[in-house]
Amino acid sequence: MVLRMNESHPRISKAVIPAAGLGTRFLPATKATPKEMLPVVDKPAIQYVVEEAVGAGLSDVLMITGRNKRPLEDHFDRNYELEEALIKKGDQERLAKVQESSDLATMHYVRQGDPRGLGHAVLCAAPHVGNEPFAVLLGDDLIDPRDPLLARMVEVQEREGGSVVALMEVEPSQIHLYGCAAVEPTGDADVVKVTNLVEKPDPAEAPSNYAVIGRYVLDASVFGILRETEPGRGGEIQLTDALQKLAADESVGGPVHGVVFKGRRYDTGDRGDYLRAIVRLACEREDLGPDFRNWLRGYVTEEMQGL
Ligand code: G1P
Repeated sequence: MVLRMNESHPRISKAVIPAAGLGTRFLPATKATPKEMLPVVDKPAIQYVVEEAVGAGLSDVLMITGRNKRPLEDHFDRNYELEEALIKKGDQERLAKVQESSDLATMHYVRQGDPRGLGHAVLCAAPHVGNEPFAVLLGDDLIDPRDPLLARMVEVQEREGGSVVALMEVEPSQIHLYGCAAVEPTGDADVVKVTNLVEKPDPAEAPSNYAVIGRYVLDASVFGILRETEPGRGGEIQLTDALQKLAADESVGGPVHGVVFKGRRYDTGDRGDYLRAIVRLACEREDLGPDFRNWLRGYVTEEMQGL
């Protein structure tokens, strides 16, 4: 018997952000700086992700970190020295920028120790999360705040129970980069029932072109499953494999639904995508956009002439 949302259902308040990765794709920039701290325009990538969690009503944020990740903790903490200096100068605008990240959310940190995969990182959140449903946000995916996704996922989880993943249709040739979901329609145009999940399938074997993008709202039963999940693709404990077990047997932790996202998503996972994300976000910024677009237009014209 699967419990549906009722009055006693706890309001989802916790977000888990895995941030223990080594960021080797960005070396040498990430030799001494966590990749999550690389700026996207003028804000570290990780701040967008925490802002997104807070925007969806999740103000308790647990980061799963590792060695060399201290700058993450410092970024979301006060910096009295800098604040004092800006107060003395009367620079309110920059003071607000410094205080923004430390006022955002209640931050918690736990270290992953051995990097044994995304599933293992999520399992490190078990003592903090307890028995409540919770969200997981992966830092390589930035979701435009104008296209709220997580809030919709929370709404679906609160209505349906179980777990909810974010899905996006991708070109079949790209599906091997993602977890892939087999789905069935529901009464809601943007919601599907997930019947099967495969981590990074070969395109010929992919059950669909629905890719799992890095947002999840999970039932706490996933922890028990993760404890028993053997290393999968890449020798790592895969979150997708644990979710597959939930999707295959609703009696364990309720159904798995997918919210199909059609909004703006920026991938910052590799260098090319990171550069594209910066250009797109800079173009859309009210303060920087108009000048930057003008310059970009000129630059592209010059490049075209050279072809
Ligand atoms: C992870 C997940 C994968 C998911 C992807 C979304 O893979 O394992 O299922 O589709 O994030 O970005 P990664 O990109 O960390 O290799």
